[in-house]
Amino acid sequence: MIKLGNLTSVMESADGLDLLTDSVLLKVQCISSKTIRIFEPKSQQKASYAINETAHINSYELIETSGHFELISTSYKLIIQKMPLRLRFETNDGIVLSEDDAGLGTIWDSGGVTCYKTLQSGERFFGLGEKTGGLDKAGKQYRNWNTDAYGYTPSTDPLYVSCPFYIGMCHNRFYGLFLNNHSESVFNFGAANNRFSFFQANDGILDYFLIAGPTPANILEEYTALTGRMTLPPLWSLGFQQCRYSYFPSADVIRVAKTFREKKLPADVIYFDIHYMQDYKVFTWHKEHFSDPIEIIRMLKELDFHPVVILDPGVKIEEGYHVYEDGIANDVFVKYPDGELYSGGAWLGWCHFPDFTNPNVRTWWAKYVEHFTSLGIEGFWNDMNEPAVWGHHMPSILLFDQDGTSGTHRDAHNVYGMQMSRATMEGATAGLVGLRPFVLTRATFSGGQRYSAVWTGDNHSNDDHLMLGAKLVTGMGLSGFPFTGNDLGGFTGDAGASLYRRWIAQATFQPLMRGHSMINSKEAEPWSFGEETLEIARNYLGLRYALLPHIYSLFYESTQNGMPPARTLVFEYGTEWKIFSNPFEHQFTLGQHLLVCPVESETKIAKVYLPQGNWYHFLNDTIYEGGREHLIELQNDTIPLYAKAGGIIPMQSIVQSTNELNDGTVRIHIYFGAPGNYTFYEDDGIHIDQTNENHALRKLHLSTNQFKIDRQVGKYNSAYKNLRLYLHGFEHTAAIFNGNAVNICSENFRFMPAISNFDPYEAYPDTSKMIERLHYLEVPYSPNEIIIAFI
Ligand code: GLC
Repeated sequence: MIKLGNLTSVMESADGLDLLTDSVLLKVQCISSKTIRIFEPKSQQKASYAINETAHINSYELIETSGHFELISTSYKLIIQKMPLRLRFETNDGIVLSEDDAGLGTIWDSGGVTCYKTLQSGERFFGLGEKTGGLDKAGKQYRNWNTDAYGYTPSTDPLYVSCPFYIGMCHNRFYGLFLNNHSESVFNFGAANNRFSFFQANDGILDYFLIAGPTPANILEEYTALTGRMTLPPLWSLGFQQCRYSYFPSADVIRVAKTFREKKLPADVIYFDIHYMQDYKVFTWHKEHFSDPIEIIRMLKELDFHPVVILDPGVKIEEGYHVYEDGIANDVFVKYPDGELYSGGAWLGWCHFPDFTNPNVRTWWAKYVEHFTSLGIEGFWNDMNEPAVWGHHMPSILLFDQDGTSGTHRDAHNVYGMQMSRATMEGATAGLVGLRPFVLTRATFSGGQRYSAVWTGDNHSNDDHLMLGAKLVTGMGLSGFPFTGNDLGGFTGDAGASLYRRWIAQATFQPLMRGHSMINSKEAEPWSFGEETLEIARNYLGLRYALLPHIYSLFYESTQNGMPPARTLVFEYGTEWKIFSNPFEHQFTLGQHLLVCPVESETKIAKVYLPQGNWYHFLNDTIYEGGREHLIELQNDTIPLYAKAGGIIPMQSIVQSTNELNDGTVRIHIYFGAPGNYTFYEDDGIHIDQTNENHALRKLHLSTNQFKIDRQVGKYNSAYKNLRLYLHGFEHTAAIFNGNAVNICSENFRFMPAISNFDPYEAYPDTSKMIERLHYLEVPYSPNEIIIAFI
């Protein structure tokens, strides 16, 4: 066992501060005005797959006193105690954010390293990626080891994704901590003790970053500056996605796609799960069931559907199978240390596994992906890439390239899925020349947001998973993964109508909206649950498509600062303690201003917590006071939704797919009662904007008596010719635009049509979904500044 020991010398050099003790050497680097890195500058440092940006060294001031040094940066201080060496991270007004446990500090033991931090009074812990448990993870311990967690429950750990980054909160201040080590790690947030939290890497070296806030959004911005951000996905991937294990033969895929169109259910994506392949062999087509892939893809595109195909990493060992033979010829498969190829079991029997941590292997894989794009495929689904093998225990001694730094399965395991999605993204990007690919993965690691969206694996059709799903998505969002979702309706088991209804309602507001279900389970398309549910599904799909201008703007924001579209209330209301309790911990906002409260399938009266501020019931404009709980009566087709006073939400007419043109009128909803700002982003939704000019970017500002849209930045010709401004809560009777009075009109308004045709004698139309006589005004929408004053 090695302990930190006493500080014997401090050396300042161009790349940071060297702290030498009688047992170890640590380096401290000020990466930015908010972020500091503490690590062992050792040669056994593996390639960091998480870090995207090479570190910049920021200036700092160093002061020495008798017992310690103080390193002072713009927004933090690091107090370096000499005897023994201990580190304390503080705000520069002296509030402790994270400090080494006085007795334990950091300890190296059994090939791993553990850093103990004093548990601060009332300290809370959030994020850590795809983790079960509460929103506040205090009192829990988690392990990071990507796992095929089939049949997981609301307390299973680990799941598919590893992300050794969390946001802590103590003394009403926030900080971030990222362990830059992708080997198996353990995070203890005060589990089974009241003394410390710790993080532990089971292999490799100590290398971590501390990030000062003040807000969780600032921390996420810093963290994603380090680990990278998603690029804009294609707009079609934000539409509704329908999956099943599996639709086959191809005629069945066409039947499902046509049914969406016939039943006027907006949708954009349909998946090919493993049955499209011949004997489940990757990069093949089933000779009978998908005999003419080009024709199927063409037919789907004609129906405005984008096919997304599954790709599993295992390559079947079979003489004559081109991918296997080519893989052998190119030496792409993982081996034992004695040179024998590793064989593991998967759907198709024994297979070899490409070493995605080898750049040559990524290029090899990318060529096959590129070939698939030539058939017209723009979406790829990477599954089983924990990697999952039957029996679950891929031997730890297997060798991996690790981008030239060489390691074993112990080192490479957690980044395997991430590097598979990287290779897939690279191949798809090359093949699609200028068009944006969509890549979805099950397993990934911190920084994987650069390559793919993530879904939360094989969940189950029940209320526990419906609620857990919301927390997994927002927990991932807090951890740098903005584009996530759950299998709507649940993957295993059979959803009933009431569960499906509440799930589609919730999923409408999740970044990835994808229905999926297991082989041999009951049908789970929107029309499989009866007429009433079909109509409810249609309403929510309509709302999703109407909200796409808002959702797309949020995705754009994420590319700029890492903020996820679906946000846990910790982002804005972390100091309101009620948000941490059940059921409020499930609530989230879509952007800043739209509050979504997930509810279970049979809930008739929901308990919601509205944070500080005033909130408008999204469907009927009743105003509720924030800062307290409310009981809300619900119809079976609604979940509680609120828009915040000061809110700005752009919407469009309902379209059946993102390929269909909207009616040319952007509907911007504004909510009276507080000032608000919004960034509205538009582009063509499919091309990579190489020049960074082919967009229409506008800042929107709301004050008590004025709504202003700044002049457009960018050269894109907006899809809109008119602006219809919906005025919620405004009592003004007139408005002025360009010096002229504009009429304020009114109409009976519904975000979602009432359920009408399933039972004409029932008590619908439901007034909870109707805003009677909503006021609006209409003006031309031009790229110039638009100012509307209310009088
Ligand atoms: C895995 C995936 C699931 C998929 C199935 C068959 O269980 O998680 O989504 O349908 O494999 O490919």
